Parts: sequence; C-alpha cells; structure tokens
Amino acid sequence: MAKDKILVIGACGQIGVELTLALRKIYGSANVVASDLREENELLKGTGPYVSMDVMNKEMLHVQVIRQNITQIYLLAAILSATGEKNPNLAWHLNMQGLLNVLDIAREEQLDKVYWPSSIAVFGPTSPKRFCPQQTVIEPTTVYGISKYAGEFWCNYYHQRYGVDVRSIRYPGLISYKSAPGGGTTDYAIEIYLEALAEKKYKCFLNEDSYLPMMYMPDAIRATIELMHAPAKQISVRTSYNISGMSFSPKEIAASIQKHIPEFQLSCESDYRQAIADSWPQSIDDTVANKDWGWKPEFDLDKMTADMLGNLKK
Ligand code: NAD
Ligand code: SER
Repeated sequence: MAKDKILVIGACGQIGVELTLALRKIYGSANVVASDLREENELLKGTGPYVSMDVMNKEMLHVQVIRQNITQIYLLAAILSATGEKNPNLAWHLNMQGLLNVLDIAREEQLDKVYWPSSIAVFGPTSPKRFCPQQTVIEPTTVYGISKYAGEFWCNYYHQRYGVDVRSIRYPGLISYKSAPGGGTTDYAIEIYLEALAEKKYKCFLNEDSYLPMMYMPDAIRATIELMHAPAKQISVRTSYNISGMSFSPKEIAASIQKHIPEFQLSCESDYRQAIADSWPQSIDDTVANKDWGWKPEFDLDKMTADMLGNLKK
C-alpha cells in the first residue's frame, strides 16, 4: 500500500499553519507538502517541503499532485465572510473553482482522501438561532455562505457519483494566536486578546450582545484530524458536519479577559459585519458529529482565555 503523502493548499493561513505542523507530527515532515500563493510562513520554514502554488491553476496543481505522489489533499484556500462581501465575484470564483479543481484531480488520480472546510456561514436568518441542527432550513445571505453551501453539495456529489472520499466540517469562528486571521466576521475574538494585552482596551466592530459559535484552534485541529482518521463507514454526512465548541458575545469575552486584566475596557461600534453576524446562528447542535466519530470539544471560554493570554504574553 502506498504511504500517505499530503498536500495542504492555503498552508500559510490561520488554520493552514497549525494544521500543517500537526500533520507533519503525525505523518513525518517530508510527507506533508505545504503550499500557498503567499511566501512561506515563518513558522513553517525549515519544518518540511513548501511549494508556491495557485489553486486556480489546475494544470500546475495536477503536475504537483503527480510529481509529489500526493495521496490526500487538505484544501484551505478561500476568501472568508467579511472580505467576501467586499469582492463577491472573487470570493465565488476562488471558493468554487478552487474546490472543483481539487475534486476533479482527486477523482482523476484516485486520491485516498480530500478535506475541505465549510462554515457556520452556510446558515442564514431563517435557520434556527439556538442549537442549529445538522439538517435544517439553510438560506445563506453572504457570498461566502452561498459558496460554502454550494461547495458542500459538490463534495457530496463527487462522493456519491465518483466515490471521492471527501470529508468536511462546518467550522465555527476560530480563535488562535499563532497565525493571523484572514478576513472573517469572527476575527474580533482574536483582536480583542491582542489589544487587551497591548492597549488594555478594544473597540469591537460587533455589538456587545452579538452571540456567535466559536472554537479554540487546538479543538479545530483535533476535530479535523479525528474526522480524517475516522473509518469511512462511520461518515454518514458527505456534505459537511456541524461541530460545536463554545458560544459567547463580545461582552462575555471581555468579562473573561477582565479576570486576568481587570482594567480592560470594551467599547462597541458595529459596522457592515454586524449584518453578517446577525444572519448566523448563536449556537450549534453537533449531535451527529458526536455520534458518528465521537466529536467532543475540550476548551470553554475561560480555559481558552487563560491559554490565549498566556501564549500571547510569551
Ligand atoms: P486564511 O485566509 O487565513 O488562509 C487562507 C490561505 O489561502 C491564505 O494563506 C491565502 O494566501 C491562501 N490562498 C488564497 N488564495 C489562494 C490561491 N488561489 N491558491 C493558493 N492559496 C491561496 O483562512 P483560514 O482562516 O485559514 O481558513 C481556511 C479555511 O477554513 C477556509 O476554507 C475557510 O473558509 C474555512 N473556515 C475558517 C474559519 C475561521 O474562523 N478561520 C471558520 C470557518 C471556516
Ligand atoms: N470565521 C469565519 C468568518 O467569520 C466563519 O466562517 O468568516
């Protein structure tokens, strides 16, 4: 049996850096090829192979997959919700064509597995606000959400029609300290920690009571790897799995920070991102992921705050 050889596309982004490093620990440095449009991230340098690549260039992607004997692709290149609303055409084009390029090559080269993340952004104002279930009314109102929902059905189609073993998670807003976020509505929950340490105050672009589903990056990386390692027969969802970590508002994250920095002050002035946040659910029901492959989060808000502040201080 051929050994696993992984290509991570979008490896220099918020998730890509940490996921690449985690995969290199499991599969060995030489067996995880990082790739991105950007220059190699400092944290990746010297940890394994890197190729500069545009996922929109299908020919070059195909050549790399063959040349490097790739057996699995993790596709992370995308335009997120807030940036997507500024350039809807670009977001649609990258988020759709990038995925179709990868799915086609996975089919042609009979790759073992593909990972592609979706988002809570698939849900819209008509979805249930609390404990939003796996299957429900889904009418997204952002171009990002529309592209993720369409992407979920392309994944399902390639699985049903061509047998591509593609797996997916609807990540909540992800919070991390290693690499910068890439233009999402939930990015405030990272900025707030940085500003709390640097300035002891933060002006949030969402209202203080905007309650959203969130997750700490170590949980998100573990979820991704657990899903990819689960036996295929346990995967009942071939669109994308709901997973839940925690839910909080700017006011609640500020209170959690004040336990460590009592003088910290939050002010709020909402902008265009408020409408995006208002369209999403406040919390997620992840019963199906728990039942199929045993998903369980480890971090709650206070545990994450202590870890974020401790690591950012270093
Ligand atoms: P990010 O913006 O931080 O990283 C994306 C990376 O893709 C960047 O390094 C960028 O340079 C690269 N890229 C962009 N266009 C490319 C192209 N044409 N070819 C190759 N690389 C290209 O995003 P992220 O936060 O790491 O998100 C990764 C994935 O997870 C995306 O699909 C995103 O929608 C999804 N997701 C993220 C979150 C979150 O909170 N971060 C939540 C839900 C879903
Ligand atoms: N964190 C992401 C965003 O805000 C959710 O997919 O766009």
